[in-house]
Amino acid sequence: MGSFYLTTPIYYASGEPHLGHAYTTILADVLARYHRRAGDDVLFLTGTDEHGQKIQEAAAEHGLTPLELCDRMVDRFKAAWVELGISNDRFIRTTEPEHIAVVGALLERLYDNGFIYEAEYTGWYSVGQERYFTEKEIGPDRVDPIAGGPVTRIREKNWFFRMSLFRDRLVEHIEKNPEWIVPATRRNEVLGFLSQGLGDLSISRPRSRIHWGIPIPWDPDQVTYVWVDALTNYVTAAGAVDPDAPRGRRGFGDPLPSRWPADVHLMGKDIITTHAVYWPTLLMGADLALPRKILAHGWWVVGDTKMSKSLGNVVDPLDLRERYGPEAVRWYLMREMATGQDASYTPERFLTRYDELRNIFGNLAHRTLSMIRRYRDGIVPAAPADGLADETAAAVGAYRRGLDGYRLHEGFAAAMDLARTANGFVETQEPWALARRPDAAAELDHTLATLVHTLAVLACLFEPVTPEKAAELATRLGLAGIPLFDELDRLNLAGNVVSVGAPLFPRVDPD
Ligand code: MSP
Repeated sequence: MGSFYLTTPIYYASGEPHLGHAYTTILADVLARYHRRAGDDVLFLTGTDEHGQKIQEAAAEHGLTPLELCDRMVDRFKAAWVELGISNDRFIRTTEPEHIAVVGALLERLYDNGFIYEAEYTGWYSVGQERYFTEKEIGPDRVDPIAGGPVTRIREKNWFFRMSLFRDRLVEHIEKNPEWIVPATRRNEVLGFLSQGLGDLSISRPRSRIHWGIPIPWDPDQVTYVWVDALTNYVTAAGAVDPDAPRGRRGFGDPLPSRWPADVHLMGKDIITTHAVYWPTLLMGADLALPRKILAHGWWVVGDTKMSKSLGNVVDPLDLRERYGPEAVRWYLMREMATGQDASYTPERFLTRYDELRNIFGNLAHRTLSMIRRYRDGIVPAAPADGLADETAAAVGAYRRGLDGYRLHEGFAAAMDLARTANGFVETQEPWALARRPDAAAELDHTLATLVHTLAVLACLFEPVTPEKAAELATRLGLAGIPLFDELDRLNLAGNVVSVGAPLFPRVDPD
């Protein structure tokens, strides 16, 4: 029992939610639900990134004010998250007054600590990434190196953060804590980036160019660079900074009832630099603790290309949801992508993963409940339920190692393997043959009690990824709720009245 604070990136409110956003958010949701089931007090944060040039331009294109556009998109994101069963505790918007005040307080803190100065900036800016790139990074074709979009030459006055001062401390932190950035490929990438030296970070833009942003507290002609604004959302939601505290104190280090630091920041690998370099150095500059872990996952790709809105190859998760149900989409995304690596979306693989839910997990539930109805009048027999005790303990162990170690695909593979093993147990025990032999009543009781017990364990293991189906299964088993992890050792379903119901995962006819 402990507490667990986890975050997704806050998504740009300039475009519709798509599979990429859904993946990170479902990943976070699965971890949040897993930690709640393990008894932790969870804070699960997601939200929208609403300032900056990208939003300003998208709003102008639609003939809306930036806030009108954001309001519209926030509704779309929230609706998508409800449809996908996301259980976030907080949805933050960077246009909230509380957040705006915290950004101001954090900047003043950096200023008071002597880490801010003013200078002229000359370089290349990508609106798509909301970032400057160096001459070397944009290459001879002068395109942004992440998505290949356009960059523009800029020369202007900016406020800068002395990020360079924190390079050595950051490198040391990464080297001393090998599990801080996962997976290891991303850690090496960040170390490689830092080995080339670290410059200072421009943290403001002139209002004459970008009006849609949080004013710099001591210079209202400049607005806060959108990444500094956005990253700060993680401390705003944690209550780590009290913007009303007197200047010079601002709640930093005061004993606020704060959830900071985050246990894990989740994101795609496209934004690892901002999270693993900009963010920790800003926190160091403001005397705040670093997050405990940074997990950068891979991309969903179509063929060899990243799925992205700007590339026009986006698959809407809601398309799949309508046909197969949202939990089939969640299962596919968690089971198919080795957490941290890229994965390719194909309809064939989606169907394979759906069939696994239907034919292995769904089938085990259906046949077990049907046999209890047929052979025992729908009442779970009072008999030892230990026929698969070793297999179940091993599966729960592998599952927890997988989820605790952020290898969710391994955890869910272990859950599905347990269902497969239980189906094998049905085949070897042949309950239909036992039912014909009056002398085998005790063995039939033992077999059925074992299968029901395994299903109760599976309801717990599947809840983080298929919460409604798991709840439905628990109800059919006559349980008052889905078991928590620490209840698994003392489950007793003897005497429960079960109901069979329709298959948990119905057959979906192909077109
Ligand atoms: N607003 C910034 C984040 C600020 S966080 C302080 C941003 N927003 S975004 O809308 O572009 O979302 C980027 C995130 O969406 C990625 O980091 C990843 O979590 C997710 N994905 C977007 N496309 C994706 C794929 N094709 N595959 C997997 N995830 C992807 O960047």
